[in-house]
Amino acid sequence: MPSTEAVIAKRFNNLLRPLQVHINRATVLAGELAAMHGVDVEACELAASTHDLFRSEPDFAQISAAEKYGIPIGDIETATPMLLHGPIAAAWLENEAGLTDSRVLQAVRWHTFGWPEIDDVGKILYLADKLEPGKVNADPSLEPIRNMAESHPDQALLKLLQMRCDAHLERELEVHPFTLALIENLKSS
Ligand SMILES: [Fe+2]
Ligand SMILES: [Fe+2]
Repeated sequence: MPSTEAVIAKRFNNLLRPLQVHINRATVLAGELAAMHGVDVEACELAASTHDLFRSEPDFAQISAAEKYGIPIGDIETATPMLLHGPIAAAWLENEAGLTDSRVLQAVRWHTFGWPEIDDVGKILYLADKLEPGKVNADPSLEPIRNMAESHPDQALLKLLQMRCDAHLERELEVHPFTLALIENLKSS
């Protein structure tokens, strides 16, 4: 049976180059932020290097993979099946690649929405995914939040979540309840 690393590498190698570049940049930043904040570097790098393995699957494939793994498909996911790519990646990592670290699986599963009781690995992945250099280059208004991620990671996380929330409300899209609950938790902590 091939190793977990080999199964992951095979899937990664079949992704389109721009997605590989994003994943690699997020992995580097996840490692840096983890080291800076005393979080498990290996777990954060593994989460970042696997979080988007299903990001570029077309809608029909997202739906069928979610059905295969018994992942609930709510109104939000029906409207935007791409939002299933985190839960699908986590299920695939657990079932097909034999990955067992629950912190990594949970971070990957909820990297798009966050979750109310988010842990340190989840926070680092969220920050690294949204603040890797490609994202900041594309949107220089992220620069102060990128800096904040080094000094005040929880504040940076809260800013990113609020920005996501605002962008959704502007487009009259429903915000995931996990995102709203996480915002409330961060505000009161
Ligand atoms: Fe993603
Ligand atoms: Fe990503």
